[in-house]
Amino acid sequence: MSDLHARVEETRGILERIARDFSPAVFASSLAAEDMVLTDMILRAGLPITIFTLETGRLHKETLDVLEKVRAQYGHEIKQYKPQPEAVERYVTQNGLNAFYDSVEMRKECCRIRKVEPLGRALAGNKAWVTGQRRSQSTTRSELAVQEDDAAHGMQKFNPLADWSEADVWEYIRANTVPYNALHDRGYPSIGCEPCTRAIQPGEDVRAGRWWWESADSKECGLHLVDGKLIRIKSVAA
Ligand code: ADX
Ligand code: SF4
Repeated sequence: MSDLHARVEETRGILERIARDFSPAVFASSLAAEDMVLTDMILRAGLPITIFTLETGRLHKETLDVLEKVRAQYGHEIKQYKPQPEAVERYVTQNGLNAFYDSVEMRKECCRIRKVEPLGRALAGNKAWVTGQRRSQSTTRSELAVQEDDAAHGMQKFNPLADWSEADVWEYIRANTVPYNALHDRGYPSIGCEPCTRAIQPGEDVRAGRWWWESADSKECGLHLVDGKLIRIKSVAA
């Protein structure tokens, strides 16, 4: 059995276990490559895991196009959570539309309004959530466990692709004709909001294009942080 085949089987098993033992469960999709692998596995198997995306209002057109690609290929509507309009309006009026370039604090406040608060609404009432994070994506993720006790949200958090490589992700996408964000073919391995993501040059770190004006250790948007710390309270044996 090839390495990828074994990983795929293991990942399917994890998703089936989540659907069986941690219902209701949700999957947070950024619509980027990793998340399309999980989307494909969930939808093909018809697993009762609700797929949602945080539609920040600042996403690329190519990212929004993925919603349509999923509809066309799987006949499935990905649920969208949007920021509270009053909070966005207040931030923009007080600080300006692109104030996130001014300081790390301003950037984190924008992420809090556009991603973290909507995430709380998306997770409420569930027993588990799933992400597409991988260990090799960044130094801050090198210790990532497949299953974590997310005490902050009061539920289990699963990272079923934790030990997948970027090459595994693309091999799966090509072998299964999984739809993906067109920006990946234009030098964007990691995709967030449009004003905070740029293409990378050959040889640059895969996350070099995210919040490129900040130092590497602040490059997390808060989805996977609580009080500024990574939620690595307890790893649970898978
Ligand atoms: S981030 O923290 O730097 O923004 P990254 O883009 O690497 O995260 O994505 C890691 C995981 O966080 C994704 O696989 C997905 O599970 C979740 N995620 C990130 N952005 C979103 C989004 N806009 N909507 C839903 N989930 C997201
Ligand atoms: Fe705001 Fe940029 Fe964070 Fe998107 S990634 S929520 S635009 S600071």
